[in-house]
Amino acid sequence: MSARPLFVVAGVGNGSGTGAATARVFSKAGYRVALIARNADHLKRTAEEINAAGGEAAAFPVPSYAYGDVTSVFDQIQSHQWASGGRTELRVALFNAGAGVWKPFLDVTEADVALITETNITAAFAFSRAALLAFKQNEVDANGKRGTLLFTGATASIRGNVTTSAFAAGKFALRSLSQSLNKEFGKQNIHVAHSIIDGGILTDLSLSRRQGDPEWKNNGDVRLDPESIGKSYLYLANQDRSAWTWELDLRPAHEKW
Ligand SMILES: NC(=O)c1ccc[n+]([C@@H]2O[C@H](COP(=O)([O-])OP(=O)(O)OC[C@H]3O[C@@H](n4cnc5c(N)ncnc54)[C@H](OP(=O)(O)O)[C@@H]3O)[C@@H](O)[C@H]2O)c1
Repeated sequence: MSARPLFVVAGVGNGSGTGAATARVFSKAGYRVALIARNADHLKRTAEEINAAGGEAAAFPVPSYAYGDVTSVFDQIQSHQWASGGRTELRVALFNAGAGVWKPFLDVTEADVALITETNITAAFAFSRAALLAFKQNEVDANGKRGTLLFTGATASIRGNVTTSAFAAGKFALRSLSQSLNKEFGKQNIHVAHSIIDGGILTDLSLSRRQGDPEWKNNGDVRLDPESIGKSYLYLANQDRSAWTWELDLRPAHEKW
């Protein structure tokens, strides 16, 4: 019997953003879903919601995005007994966690630098290593790939600005990691892709930062819909290796920036 494909995502927040929306998209496409995040209650709720919709999701809370915590959660995922039984193979991994610090440079503290480094860089290295080791065990699929490793970037992945010295340093690092991995692991038929999200994503947090602005909430032309980002990630996962994307750039149609 062929193995069920597994999708794993790190960074699921409260379930209203890109991480959870992408998990729903991959679940509907037939993947088992492993959810990694720090808030166990939020995570459990998102997993239950996917299961209630007919999918198969499991929650894997982490105490932090420290290297060891990310590595050990992958061990738990690999040994997890899925309810419907049978074999499963990790086929798609999304590193979606991102810590943001938006401050003038002279206000950035050592703790801010540590947070940015741990979440955006250290965790990404641990996540990538675990995912790549799992992909290397796979045979190539119908698209000629052993697996797809995806990263969520931001405007700050390619542009520093007045309050983004810390955030942009983290996102630049993530982008360069993805490019190096694309070059190194492409030869092993593992697809690594980075996505620049150049605009605000409609999440509970983003909306609260805009005081619930109904125009921003309801006008799909001015902000990104998390589900639409998830569909683009599924598109990347479905690309075959004769013409695959390293970097995608996603933006709403009526951008002003
Ligand atoms: N929201 C936007 O407007 C926007 C725009 C461009 C790019 N992005 C990027 O898109 C990705 C998805 O973001 P999203 O807004 O759609 O939300 P999301 O997918 O719901 O969650 C993003 C994840 O980042 C983690 N995170 C957030 N703040 C953190 C902190 N201070 N320290 C450690 N981890 C933190 C959270 O981890 P836990 O799950 O462990 O809580 C969260 O799940 C992120 O990488 C973000 O940088 C967001």
